Amino acid sequence: MMHSKTVLVTGGAGYIGSHTVVELINAGYNPIILDDFRNSKSWIIDRIAQITKVTPTCHQVDCQDEGAVMEVVKNYPNAIGLIHFAADKAVGESIQKPVQYYQNNIGSLCVILKAMKSFGIKHLVFSSSCTVYGEADTAVVTEESPVKAATSPYGDTKITCEKIIRYNSNAHDNFGATLLRYFNPIGAHPSGLIGELPQGVPNNLMPYITQTAKGIREKLTVFGSDYNTPDGTNIRDYIHVMDLAKAHVKALQFLNNTACKESVTINLGTGKGTSVLEIINAFENVNQLKLNYEIGPRRVGDVEQIYANSERAKKLLGWTCEYSLNEALKHSWEWEKGIDN
Ligand code: UD1
Repeated sequence: MMHSKTVLVTGGAGYIGSHTVVELINAGYNPIILDDFRNSKSWIIDRIAQITKVTPTCHQVDCQDEGAVMEVVKNYPNAIGLIHFAADKAVGESIQKPVQYYQNNIGSLCVILKAMKSFGIKHLVFSSSCTVYGEADTAVVTEESPVKAATSPYGDTKITCEKIIRYNSNAHDNFGATLLRYFNPIGAHPSGLIGELPQGVPNNLMPYITQTAKGIREKLTVFGSDYNTPDGTNIRDYIHVMDLAKAHVKALQFLNNTACKESVTINLGTGKGTSVLEIINAFENVNQLKLNYEIGPRRVGDVEQIYANSERAKKLLGWTCEYSLNEALKHSWEWEKGIDN
C-alpha cells in the first residue's frame, strides 16, 4: 500500500489550520494534527472528515508541553514538514495578558523547533502576520519593507518568533522555513462546514459583521472615518481562507522541492486594499441584507492602511488568489448561518 506523505500540523483544528488540513488531504498528504482545542472545537475534526472523507489523526496536546510534544512527534520521524499554527492571536487580549502571549507563542515555537531537531524534521511553515510591518511607510508592503517596533505583545511575539526561526536556520544545516506573513483572512470553506469560531465577542471585523447580521450583536461600530483614505476608513488586504490554506500546501512543496535550508519570508495577501465601508457595502450586496452599523471613534493601535505586494508568493510558490472578495463574504455568511453561537 502506498503511504502518503506525513505532515504535522499544530493548531490544525483552528480557523486557518482546519482549512489547511482539508487542502493537505486534497493534495494527497497525511496531516497529523496537534491541537489542545483551547480556541477550537473537536467537532471541527468530524467536519474535516465530512468534507474530505478522511478522518485526520489528531493528538490533543498543548504545544508548550515539551514532553507531550516529543511523545507525539517521535512517532513521525518521516514527516516531510511541520506547519505551526498553534498560537494566541488576539491583539487586545495580548495587552491584558502579555505573559501568557510570550509564554505560549514563543514557548510553543521553541518546543516545536526542539522536536523537529530531535526527530529530523527539516521543514517548517510558520504563521506570521503583516502586523510586523506596523504603521508602514507605504500602504503596499513587500517583504523588504522594514519591520517596525510592535505596539502589542502579540505583534512582538510574531517579530520574535521570526527571529528565532532565522537564527535556527543559520545554526543548523538541515533546517528550512517559510515565514508566512498573513494579511486579513476571511471567508470559510464553500461547503459551510468549517470556518472561524470566535470565542465571546469577536475582535475582528468579519465575525463581528456576520454576528451582527445574525442578530447576535446589535450593531457594528466602524472604528474611525477620519483616516487619510478615500472614504476615511481603514484599508486592509482581505484574503479568502481557502487561498491562504492552498498557499501553505505550496509553501511546503517549495521547501521540499528546493531542499530549502534557510528562512524565506513571504507575504500572503491578494495585493488589493479594501476599506471597512467597502467591506460592509459588498457584504450587504452579495448577501442581500442590511447591516446595522454606526461610525465610531478610532481603535487604538490600528494602522491606517496596509496591503500586500504578493509578487514573491507568485514567483516562489507559483501561488495567486483564486477566490474573489464577494465569494469570501458569501462564504463567511453561509458559515455563520449554519452554526449555533
Ligand atoms: C489584527 C492584527 C493582525 C492580526 C489580526 C488577527 C494589527 C495591525 N493587525 O488585524 O496582525 O493577525 O488582527 O487577530 O495588529 N474594524 C471595525 N469594527 C470592528 C472590528 C474591526 O471597524 O468591530 C476595523 C478595524 O479598525 C480595521 C479592520 O476593521 O480597520 C480590520 O480589523 P481586524 O479584523 O481586527 O483586523 P486587523 O486589526 O487588521
